[in-house]
Formats: sequence, structure tokens, C-alpha cells
Amino acid sequence: MPDVPNTVADITVTPILPRFGAEISGVDLTQPLSPEVAQKLVDLQDTWGVTVYRDTGLDDASHIAFSRIFGVLEKAPSRSGNGRTKRQLPPEIFASSNLGPDNEINLDPSAAIYRKGDQLWHTDSSFMPVRSAYSALLAHEVPSKDGLTWFADTRSAYDDLPQEMKDKLETLEADHSLWWSRKQGGADIDEAEIDDRVLARHKMIYEDKKTGRKALYVGAHCRDVIGMNREEGRALIRQLNEWIVRPEYVFSVSWNVGDMTIWNNLITQHRGGEFDAVNERRDMHRTTVREHTEADPGPDPFSRLFTEMPKLIKTEA
Ligand SMILES: [Fe+2]
Repeated sequence: MPDVPNTVADITVTPILPRFGAEISGVDLTQPLSPEVAQKLVDLQDTWGVTVYRDTGLDDASHIAFSRIFGVLEKAPSRSGNGRTKRQLPPEIFASSNLGPDNEINLDPSAAIYRKGDQLWHTDSSFMPVRSAYSALLAHEVPSKDGLTWFADTRSAYDDLPQEMKDKLETLEADHSLWWSRKQGGADIDEAEIDDRVLARHKMIYEDKKTGRKALYVGAHCRDVIGMNREEGRALIRQLNEWIVRPEYVFSVSWNVGDMTIWNNLITQHRGGEFDAVNERRDMHRTTVREHTEADPGPDPFSRLFTEMPKLIKTEA
């Protein structure tokens, strides 16, 4: 990358699907960005839903600095068991890895169960009343094969629904729970335990104010539709989740160290791909911008959630 200021004219956009996802090149993210270039990258993000930057040269500090163009960053709760203590990660970095506190591969079966939940299609933090918007994931260590990340276009999935279904969904809301997705990933939690814990309620249609487009908002944390009996509501959620991941709405990103992918959780779903987590290291660092962060988001809202988590589950974010 030449040591010259970034310009909007140098930015190249290569779409991945016709309506969704783009690789962005021609910009050095390790350098401070002019307001014009920063705005252009935010606009591209909002247009394409997912953007991929290859071989960025970013480290934790420059990753954090760059991510601030999207808003105020969330801070990960300080807790033992996610490697934060020994690995000295900045609070703005959420580690997503198969490594333990000793920086070695974590073979604890409960960590594997937690990761299994992340391999279901989901949208980050839909179980929180104020949700995650942009997530920027940077590869620090990658397995020699597999370990893809998959993305689905919930705006196009909405666009293509029959009008009758759009009308039905327009006013519906649903409850979301982290424990529900962990249960579906194989964790031993019963329904009453989930009922007892905090649930977030969201509309099933998200309207993206920046683009005017609407998106389906469901995913693996989405548990029950308000005003429907459980069976009927869960059938509807299942139907929508299956619709969203039809092949025309989905692509995968393969990773090399230094690659970064950014997505807006409110208009996409994603899932982690399988890899050999027993023998291969995978260490990804994520920054996250919460929705409505025109102002400082205040104290970290995750601590209570994670301290209440059933013992069976490790709290790798
Ligand atoms: Fe995720």
C-alpha cells in the first residue's frame, strides 16, 4: 500500500452478490481517514450490508481506531475465562476464538457447546434490548482450512416475500434470548430457566433508516412471537429463518490473517463455519458498535447477562 493519503477516487468496490456484500480495496485502513473517505466507507457499508477488506495490516489499536467511524464502540465485560486477563485485550475487543485463558486451544466441552451456538444463523446481541449494529471482525489466527464465516441478506429476503407475508409481519414482535440459541446448539437448559431470564423484545421487521429498506429480524436467538401460541410462533420463526438462508441470499468469506469483514447485524444474519477446533487455532477479534450510539452508550450492559448465565456455558463472546 503506497504511503499516500487515501482518496475516495482510489476506493474500489467489487460486489459479491448482486444486491449484497462487497470487497473494498484501495484504502489503507491503518492511516487516519479524511471525513470524506470515512463517510464513503460508511455509505458503502450501509449499501452492501457486508464489506470485506483484505490484508488490512490492522492490529488491535488501529482496528479500534478505524471502527470508530461507525459510532461508539461497545466494551466487553471484564471476566475470567475468555482469555482477557492473560491476553491483555483492550476492552473494545471481543475475542472470538477457540483459545483459553492460557492462550492455548480450549478443549473444555462446554466451550465447544457455546461455539456450536455461534454456528447457528444469528444476529449478534439480538437478545439485548439495545442491539449491536456494526460488527468488525479481524482475523489474527486462522485454521489451515475451513473456518469460513457465512452471511445472509435479510433485506433482500424481506423484499422477495409475498405481500401477504409482509403485511402479516409488519406489526409483529418477538422475544429473543441468548439461552435459547445455546439450547438449540445443544446446551442443557430447560424452557423454564429461559423464561426466568431477561428477554429482549424486537419487531420482526427492522426498518433501516439510512437506506429506507426493510429487513427480517429473527435468527437463532429469536424464540417466541408475541400474541401467537408457542408452536405457531416458532413455526413462523423457523419458516423465516429458512427463507433467509436460501442460496441466493448467502455467501461465505474465507479468511487470511489481516482480513477484516464488517457487517450490520440489523440487516444481516451470519454463522461461523465449522473447523478442526481441537487441533487448529482460530483467533478473531471483533469490535462492535451498538445501535443508537450517536451518544455514548454508557456502562457496559453485558455484565449482568453473563453473570446470570447458566453454569454449563462458558462465556466466550
Ligand atoms: Fe456472531
